[in-house]
Amino acid sequence: MTATRSTPDNISTATSSEGSAPATAGSEPTSVGGASKAASNAGSERALGPRAYRARSAGGTITVGIIGATGYAGGELVRLLLHHPNVRLAGLHGRNRDNQPIAASHPHLSATGLVIDQAIPQADAIFTALPHGLAAGMAAEIVAQGSALLDIGPDFRLHDPADYPLWYKFDHPAPELLAQAVYGLPELHRDEMRAAADRQTTVIGLPGCYPTATILTLAPLARAGLIGDLAVDAKSGVSGAGREPKADLLFSEVNESVKAYGLFNHRHTAEMEQELQAQGERGPVGRRDANPGVAMVDFLPHLMPMTRGILTSCHVRPTRPVTQAELDALYSEAYGNEPFVQVVADPPSTKHVFGSNVCRICVKVDPRSGRVLALGVIDNLVKGAAGQAVQALNVLFGLPETTGLEQFPIAP
Ligand SMILES: NC(=O)c1ccc[n+]([C@@H]2O[C@H](COP(=O)([O-])OP(=O)(O)OC[C@H]3O[C@@H](n4cnc5c(N)ncnc54)[C@H](OP(=O)(O)O)[C@@H]3O)[C@@H](O)[C@H]2O)c1
Repeated sequence: MTATRSTPDNISTATSSEGSAPATAGSEPTSVGGASKAASNAGSERALGPRAYRARSAGGTITVGIIGATGYAGGELVRLLLHHPNVRLAGLHGRNRDNQPIAASHPHLSATGLVIDQAIPQADAIFTALPHGLAAGMAAEIVAQGSALLDIGPDFRLHDPADYPLWYKFDHPAPELLAQAVYGLPELHRDEMRAAADRQTTVIGLPGCYPTATILTLAPLARAGLIGDLAVDAKSGVSGAGREPKADLLFSEVNESVKAYGLFNHRHTAEMEQELQAQGERGPVGRRDANPGVAMVDFLPHLMPMTRGILTSCHVRPTRPVTQAELDALYSEAYGNEPFVQVVADPPSTKHVFGSNVCRICVKVDPRSGRVLALGVIDNLVKGAAGQAVQALNVLFGLPETTGLEQFPIAP
């Protein structure tokens, strides 16, 4: 298997040596609404990590820093965290920025008065939202200062270091941290995330956008060992590719047009295989090979002329005949208590989740062919990136998972 550059959610190649500038004197961004000055880089506001935070003051203030705050995922994270009652933004990092008002990168956030700086923030939790390879290079410094690291990029998603040169074309510079990292999909790995929060070093590799939608949509089938053969046909809005300018993402190229890309080698394939095989192991069959259809996932992404949203259409030939009642029971059992997963009777639309942390799923068996069709939608920047990151933060720091994430989707 080889992996070459593809479009959404695969941004320009960067090497781990290109980490941002070392920490210097911290900036002092103000928090929204005229609240107090954010944490400085010294003294009592030093990073504590989730363990110490919970021991200190359950329900208190978590200091948070964002590295890569100038990008789409970083900006969305700021937007969401502004409404998080337990979070104070301690620092926003952007390369080559020096006390730059956030309005220069995110005009919609100008009223916050926040600034972006090149110091690595010191905080209880640090989010990295960078092109692949960069967070891995900075991780040792971040965890050494006592911060929990939550990477929105792919540097801590794949468990096997050998997968990084294969799929991402770089050698992982921190395999010892990778070995401790937890795949940060709370619906499937909540207990491991909590266990990671109790360790000295807490590293969360947050899932990619396509894998979030696809893994959640297929997990109940995978756990039951029902995926005999699988084709994943997925569509993404253009923000999935980040904001770095590229000719094939120009309005005139994307508007009124649909195209497939990343044929046979989209990097997110590796995550889907890893996680869906793990679900087979967790189910009654108890084996990674419980689902023949997930050994090599047949994944085809498409670029859609819309800003946000992912629709994943998963075509499954089950390992044995299934009924609709059985499917309904499986999904109800898996997601009945999940605040962010809605199982619905009709095919979902990306508009149903736009701006929210919700994943909406519909699963049907075709009575004529016996095939199963599992459909899922998310907002790639919320449940597919920043919202999921906030959800993970809540898990680590012992808060209700919905904290700061209660907003309903925007429609029409
Ligand atoms: N977009 C999504 O829907 C989505 C969903 C899930 C995960 N992700 C992942 O999240 C990460 C960020 O994605 P994004 O969509 O926010 O991308 P983006 O909009 O292109 O932002 C990238 C950020 O990284 C910074 N950056 C780029 N090259 C850098 C370098 N060499 N050194 C230091 N900083 C650098 C950029 O700073 P400048 O402003 O200076 O260029 C910007 O802050 C990626 O790994 C992506 O795969 C994205």
